[in-house]
Amino acid sequence: MAERKVVVTGAAGFIGSTLSDRLRAAGHRVVGIDGFVDNYAEARKRSHLSGLLADPGFELVEGMLESLDLQSMFAGVDVVFHLAALPGVRSSWGRSFEAYSSHNVYATQRVLEAALHAGVRRVVFASSSSVYGDTREVPMHEEAREMPHSPYGVTKLAAEHLARLYHRNFGLDTVSLRFFTVYGPRQRPDMAIQRFLTAARDGTPIEMYGDGSQRRDFTYVADTVETTARAAESGRAGAVYNVGGGTTVTLAELIEAVESVTGRRLAVNRRDSQRGDVGQTQADTRRAAADLGFVPSVPLQEGLRRHWEWLLASDGN
Ligand code: UGA
Repeated sequence: MAERKVVVTGAAGFIGSTLSDRLRAAGHRVVGIDGFVDNYAEARKRSHLSGLLADPGFELVEGMLESLDLQSMFAGVDVVFHLAALPGVRSSWGRSFEAYSSHNVYATQRVLEAALHAGVRRVVFASSSSVYGDTREVPMHEEAREMPHSPYGVTKLAAEHLARLYHRNFGLDTVSLRFFTVYGPRQRPDMAIQRFLTAARDGTPIEMYGDGSQRRDFTYVADTVETTARAAESGRAGAVYNVGGGTTVTLAELIEAVESVTGRRLAVNRRDSQRGDVGQTQADTRRAAADLGFVPSVPLQEGLRRHWEWLLASDGN
């Protein structure tokens, strides 16, 4: 894409900050928006921005999508990458659902409405493999019936529907990308790989939810971000695409891979399986390959090695 002005919502997060770095490297002017919601330490999110804040081509707007004047902020913006959300499957029950609804559904509606009225060319929305739910039908194809298994998945599916509705009713150009368990440097502290590598570094035990037989299609963050950047230009308006790493492993196999990469044995404490957790995810990536040129390039062992090196070099926990 030629050099343009773009917006990244959730710019201080794991994927949002990595995408912002990637877009700056390509020469785009990036306005990052982040509300610093307290799902994890604000200092950690700020550390993701240290390079960007020293860069005159990046501007940070601090505030909530639910209340900012988005339409004025989107004036002259070519693409909005909407990554801001309250993430996490297992924590979306109970009282926290109010925040999930607001940050994931209402905020998305405000982004779409503002993009429409400001004349934004395209909105790229970060959706989730969790829209599919606890299905036995793998690989998961975009045309399969979505049956989310967690309240978080419900909010992501609702947001996808809103994107599609703004496309169908008003012609707003939207593309939704279903990310499959993304990992790598800056991964959120509640996620399995970040926790397991940290435990390997610190010599502390890990918690394994369930019997370890659940399968995940882990996706290295550079692959996710590359495809997200490409979706600014390629991909069909109104469409959804799976963005998955292409191979799956069980949690037990993941633990072995972490041990092999780190050279350390992990002490494993077994815990009950968690509500909302699905038995398996596996992306059918043919549509993303055809329309977005998506080819996952970092296999799990290599991605774990890079994530581990980052963890050892950073003071992140
Ligand atoms: C991840 C993200 O957290 C979601 O935000 C995202 O939407 C979703 O991927 C997706 O694919 O769209 P999840 O697959 O649960 O969700 O990712 P992890 O937190 O890395 O968990 C992977 C597996 O490890 C799960 O079965 C989980 O129960 C297990 N786990 C996690 C543990 O056994 N122990 C832990 O300490 C953490």
